[in-house]
Amino acid sequence: MFYLMKIPQAMFWFLSIVVALVSYRFVVLGMDEAFAGATHQLLTSRDAFYLHIITAPIALAIAPFQLSRRFRARSIRSHRLMGKVYCTAVFLAGMSGVIIGFTARGGLIAQSGFVLLGVVWLLATLRALQVVMRGQIALHQAWMIRSIALTFAGVTLRVLLPVQLLAGISIDVAYPVVAWLCWVPNLVVAEFVIRRSKNSLGHYAETRKQNCPQNLRSPLGP
Ligand code: HEM
Repeated sequence: MFYLMKIPQAMFWFLSIVVALVSYRFVVLGMDEAFAGATHQLLTSRDAFYLHIITAPIALAIAPFQLSRRFRARSIRSHRLMGKVYCTAVFLAGMSGVIIGFTARGGLIAQSGFVLLGVVWLLATLRALQVVMRGQIALHQAWMIRSIALTFAGVTLRVLLPVQLLAGISIDVAYPVVAWLCWVPNLVVAEFVIRRSKNSLGHYAETRKQNCPQNLRSPLGP
């Protein structure tokens, strides 16, 4: 039973790191082959697209480490340093994500899904940063869980799109659907995780007393 509970954590680590690494396939394959479905971005928003594909996978690869209680306990300095890298990566990837969102394939429904995702991703991460600077650690953890759930959209999109295509749904329908499905359910799961960790902490207050992040029980990390 204990091992069964570890499966979602292991999947979260595995998928985050594998999808982040696979995103850099353009280094080996070249842009046209690596991103055959998004070559329009090279014509319309080339710089923003480059910025996005370089920085977004960095945020995704760092995400599981930031949620890991073991990693935080081992070195709070590394947690802080990687947190700064994560936030920088999110700001660059989020802003460029919003720009390329306006010209994403799939029409208005897909474009609005991506643009809103980018905006919510930026706001959640900004809030996580703001509250930790005020020493509000429990709130910081909650906002980081939301931010990372949105970062994980990079994974859910790449899992759900092939699933829809295999189910016989045409790309014209599947793409606009996945532009929303890749992040809205993630936020719902994030709220469950936050509630669970709130219960396990026994309280959930905006507190300055609780200023040792390594003491918090991490819901997704070991
Ligand atoms: C969470 C906010 C994000 C937004 C708003 C966003 C937005 C977008 C948009 C609009 C495109 C172009 C799609 C098109 O034109 O058809 C794109 C492509 C891409 N994004 Fe993101 N993205 C986000 C997160 C991520 C993450 C976390 C990764 C990490 C792996 C990522 C990696 C990529 C890659 C590699 C592409 C190139 C096309 C592909 O491989 O499918 N994105 N993104």
